[in-house]
Amino acid sequence: MENLEEKLKVLYSEEEVQKRIAELAKQIDEDYKDIKELIVICILKGAAFFTVDLVKKMKTPIIFEVMQVSSYSGTETTGAISIKKDLDCDISGKDVLIVEDIIDTGYTLRALRQDLLSRKPNSLKIAVLADKKERRKVEVPVDYVGYEIPNKFVVGYGFDVDEYGRNIPYVGYLEN
Ligand code: IMP
Ligand code: MG
Repeated sequence: MENLEEKLKVLYSEEEVQKRIAELAKQIDEDYKDIKELIVICILKGAAFFTVDLVKKMKTPIIFEVMQVSSYSGTETTGAISIKKDLDCDISGKDVLIVEDIIDTGYTLRALRQDLLSRKPNSLKIAVLADKKERRKVEVPVDYVGYEIPNKFVVGYGFDVDEYGRNIPYVGYLEN
């Protein structure tokens, strides 16, 4: 995609994002200070950038896992997802943190959470970089939120427009 960056307005600069992630990492370390290990599940592809920076700033011993899911288009009412890449490990009895790029309607994270809860983890929490609260259709408990953002289409730092722009190092938005 040509000239994508020219169409973007900066929402959070690279420095701001890294500073906010350091705060989240500190908070997560605090909350998990008594546990032996935490399974961190990075939800591909969008959350890859956020997850890597987050875990590098954490002190808690982690196991790094990835999952890739996709929502079935046109099924917003059921919010069903299909798992394109599943975990490599059994999470029963484990402490688990899902790391996702954004919560929008909430359908994806609700379905993912239900799926992972059925595997009987000891605990399950959710971290998102961005929360578009006003778009929410279903309630999902989110434990760590980088930013509550306005209802704009964000691009960069993992967020894509038709797969482009994920590697832009800041979070921008497309002007309407
Ligand atoms: P939800 O099921 O509606 O909460 O969908 C969340 C998914 O929608 C995210 O994982 C993103 O892939 C995508 N998404 C929602 N808003 C944006 C945006 O502003 N930029 C890029 N992707 C978005
Ligand atoms: Mg996407």
